[in-house]
Amino acid sequence: MDFELKTLDLAGAAGEKSDVLLVLVTEGFQAGKDPLGKLVASALAAGDLEPKPGKMLQAYRAEGIAAPRLLLAGAGDGSGKRVQTAVQAAASTLRSSTARKLTVLLPAGSGADAVRAAVCGIAESSYVYVATKSKPEARELKKVVIGVADAGAQKQAFARAKAAAAGIEFARELGNLPPNYATPTRLGEEATKLAKTHGLQVEVLGPKEVARIGMGSFMGVAKGSVEPLRFITLRYDGAGKGEAPIVLVGKGITFDTGGISIKPSAEMDEMKYDMGGAASVLGTFRALAELKPRLNVIGLIPSCENMPDGGSYKPGDILTSLSGQTIEVLNTDAEGRLILCDALTYAERFKPRAVIDIATLTGACVVALGGVRSGLFATDDALAQQLLDAGDAALDPCWRMPLDDEYAEGLKTNFADVANVAGRAGGAVVAAKFLHRFTQNYPWAHLDIAGTAWKGGAAKGSTGRPVGLLLEYLLSQESVGAAPAKRASVAAPAKAAKAARARTRALA
Ligand code: BES
Ligand code: MN
Ligand code: ZN
Repeated sequence: MDFELKTLDLAGAAGEKSDVLLVLVTEGFQAGKDPLGKLVASALAAGDLEPKPGKMLQAYRAEGIAAPRLLLAGAGDGSGKRVQTAVQAAASTLRSSTARKLTVLLPAGSGADAVRAAVCGIAESSYVYVATKSKPEARELKKVVIGVADAGAQKQAFARAKAAAAGIEFARELGNLPPNYATPTRLGEEATKLAKTHGLQVEVLGPKEVARIGMGSFMGVAKGSVEPLRFITLRYDGAGKGEAPIVLVGKGITFDTGGISIKPSAEMDEMKYDMGGAASVLGTFRALAELKPRLNVIGLIPSCENMPDGGSYKPGDILTSLSGQTIEVLNTDAEGRLILCDALTYAERFKPRAVIDIATLTGACVVALGGVRSGLFATDDALAQQLLDAGDAALDPCWRMPLDDEYAEGLKTNFADVANVAGRAGGAVVAAKFLHRFTQNYPWAHLDIAGTAWKGGAAKGSTGRPVGLLLEYLLSQESVGAAPAKRASVAAPAKAAKAARARTRALA
């Protein structure tokens, strides 16, 4: 889909040749003398149109309007959130139509938030999954003109919005692919393809290399699957060599049966989305490559299946992680943390200024926050605030959760340094506390996207979240510069991490 930004007012929009003209009408709408302005004003005066978001009025072949279909939509105060609601409502009425070209006139005075909401909202609501349909009916909409009062002033916002929309859609498409298509091998291929077409650096490791590095925890999870694991490293170098990178770590479980601690059958198909974290890292890199901010970013994706098999890891098994810490597996369904902990230790070698992992980690997070906000855990208050702000701005919000040490009590075991599960209470926090042990040497944040990465029910499908949040956060870091953030305090597990770092450096 092709987006174009144009300077348009009501009169200009009326003359724009397209199949549909969508005019967003805010509170305090100012009518001019042009026919479209008059039409809107009279509809408002008659009460047939309200500026409330979600309210709409349609017209066909209206006098003086070039587009055959005219759609007036209330957009409240014109904020990003209201524009999103308006665009979504309009798009759902257009869904069944064959419109190929759409012009959207944003309210006068619209800023970056409205531009992003319009571009991302239209991309989102016109997306159609076709990859595995035998008679695909592709997206009809080919061209979208976004009309603003001053296109020059919105140029950067528009470029960012387009990149975000493309990144979100890329993540969404990967998430929606069935698990026999989106295998760890396929994720590796997608990362390679992305790197080749966009000039990124990539490295894809297989079982042998991962064994040599010593990722015993990750390898334990992969044991039961015939699909070989992959460990993907993506690099975007937009700043000087000396600048500490931000590392994104995405959970890439391409199918989670639960393993020997097998899940119930109902809705198990949805566990194809368990690579949503990985998909969001790939989508974010796609957007970075397009925008080229002055920033160094590294993406790490541990990817495998979690399957029951004669060769599977079992409850009671003890795994030795890359950090040197031993882990007692008490539930093979708590596999996400087991692949992430090795990637988090691996992240140390990049001397990062911050590490953010993204994972469909716990059903408990779905219970806590539903599908509205992702769970955010962070050891660094500044990093937490930046992510909260980025999420709000991108309409991809998260909510901070605690990391008190008391939540880790249940992870104690007689047979290893740590167990992989505790009781059911506070499950999302307990999972975060498990990861916390492996993140002592850099500022760290964890996004539990179990509730936000996909939708169930009739609208079943991947959402592409939290690409919007991640991109917004990264772009906000562009001007911060090279100074590495101050190190978090070094606690007990860091010793082992240091030893492992020396070990892996020697092997690399
Ligand atoms: N991938 C799941 C988390 C999940 C569950 C995401 C439901 C979305 C919806 C994860 O690997 C998992 O199975 N977690 C367990 C942890 C438990 C065994 C401590 C869970 O949440 O039940
Ligand atoms: Mn699981
Ligand atoms: Zn999982």
